[in-house]
Amino acid sequence: MHCVLLLLQLPLASIFVWNGLKRASSYDRIKPHSHQGNSHRSITVPTLDHRHSLPMLTPTMPFSLLKHCFAKLLTPLLDNRSGFLAAFVLICVSAWLFQRRTTRQKKPTPHRFSNSATCLKILQNLPYDDRPGTNKLSHEVSRAIPNQRLVRAFQIDNGFTTRDAAYGRQFRRQAVQAIRQVTSTNRGGWNQIATVAREIAATYFRESTSDDRGDLDLIVQVVTMKAVLSMFFEVDATTYTDAAAFEIARRINLLSMQSKSTTGHQSADFSSLKSLLQRVGLDWTDSKDNPLNILLPAYETLWRVVARCLIEVVFRPSANTQWRSLLQTFIANPTPGTFSQIAPGGDTNVSVEFLVHEALRLYPPTRRIYRHVHFQDKQMPELLTADIEAAHRQLHVWGVDSHRYRPARWIVADQKMRDAFMPFGGGEWICPASSGFGPMMIGVLVATFAEILSAEDWELRLLRGEEGSEDEGSWILDDEMVLESDRREDTAWDLVRRS
Ligand code: HEM
Repeated sequence: MHCVLLLLQLPLASIFVWNGLKRASSYDRIKPHSHQGNSHRSITVPTLDHRHSLPMLTPTMPFSLLKHCFAKLLTPLLDNRSGFLAAFVLICVSAWLFQRRTTRQKKPTPHRFSNSATCLKILQNLPYDDRPGTNKLSHEVSRAIPNQRLVRAFQIDNGFTTRDAAYGRQFRRQAVQAIRQVTSTNRGGWNQIATVAREIAATYFRESTSDDRGDLDLIVQVVTMKAVLSMFFEVDATTYTDAAAFEIARRINLLSMQSKSTTGHQSADFSSLKSLLQRVGLDWTDSKDNPLNILLPAYETLWRVVARCLIEVVFRPSANTQWRSLLQTFIANPTPGTFSQIAPGGDTNVSVEFLVHEALRLYPPTRRIYRHVHFQDKQMPELLTADIEAAHRQLHVWGVDSHRYRPARWIVADQKMRDAFMPFGGGEWICPASSGFGPMMIGVLVATFAEILSAEDWELRLLRGEEGSEDEGSWILDDEMVLESDRREDTAWDLVRRS
């Protein structure tokens, strides 16, 4: 299309330039405006090939030249029908190009907020600064636009990416139904979920860490991936290797990072992820049946917070020994009752629920939620960011130790804290796993790992920097170290069995 337009313009542009040049080269006499009444006086100015003196450019010369070029070009064009048509096409094409350029520049203005009340307004597509005025875009479009990178990377079509309100509602119902099925008593309920998770983790540590060393994030990824595939897709975890689960996790991670990158660098392709999923028994042709529609929101969120919670409750030097026994009691009998039961004793006693809440506060897996809005009273669309991670660490809400993992803060959590706590989003699209399944699942997975791993038997070190680079180093986790919510490419949590 661009080439055709360019070709259309080229002859016209060349006529324009050619006429201008021709006229300029033969232009040796111009008539400047006389200052003496109405009489005009011709003066001689050097021609372009005048060798002995420089051409004299008067201020009026470029305008007269332009006027002449226009006259020269347009008069013959307007004199005949095809010329008139060509001029008309030129004008239309220029107008189209101009309009396209201006709309292209209509990049949304970004705004980021960490105030919890404002974050909630953003999640609900309401004006964030209390002005009247509604969003011109539908709620679905506002949510779908920032998530299009996921469509390109994973070919998904789900509630996060659709512009179709009816399909969005249908997808939500499907997700609610899937969660209900996973926890249903005829499939064994939470006891069965815990049994499967424990078997997967036990197999992993029996078979995969033969060298007594591993990257903690990767271990959590493999076990979480196998648990999610087993729960939501009934893929038997014994029918494929941990290496295959790791490869699926790695491809998801690569595609996800690639979709965020602005360099367009291609290192992973979707087809290899698809064939890995096919090999474990998942196949599809329609993007609405893509298993990643559910796998992504479930797996990507769970493994992140489980890994951080595990570090806090097992490996932080200040970790309370009571937390481990709480987790042990819970995994032996995983019910909503044991999950929220506060250990008897002192007033700093907590529950597994508080351990999980504190991990979700400090390390929310969905760190930021985006909406592309266009309010009626604004000229430009805006990209609004609800910075959940920042909202969860605000000093005036959580106190001076807001960067510390302190589950006991939930014993006396006030309304301000409860309002600011949004790990599962808010409003009409609050995560369907928020009321029960998500927190319980985190508890089950953390308790599963805590059964196998202990600080007495395993040492955890943070490795940072590229291998061989100047900033390469290794750190022992102490109480002052503030952890990142997300996995950084140049860091790894190195888990080594103590000899
Ligand atoms: C730690 C666990 C989880 C966290 C922190 C989390 C977080 C979130 C957040 C923040 C949203 C809202 C996104 C938005 O407003 O744009 C959301 C939505 C959603 N989550 Fe989760 N999620 C978790 C687990 C799960 C699991 C296990 C599932 C499995 C089914 C799931 C399925 C969904 C779905 C389907 C939606 C979209 C709801 C809708 O469109 O109405 N999530 N989640």
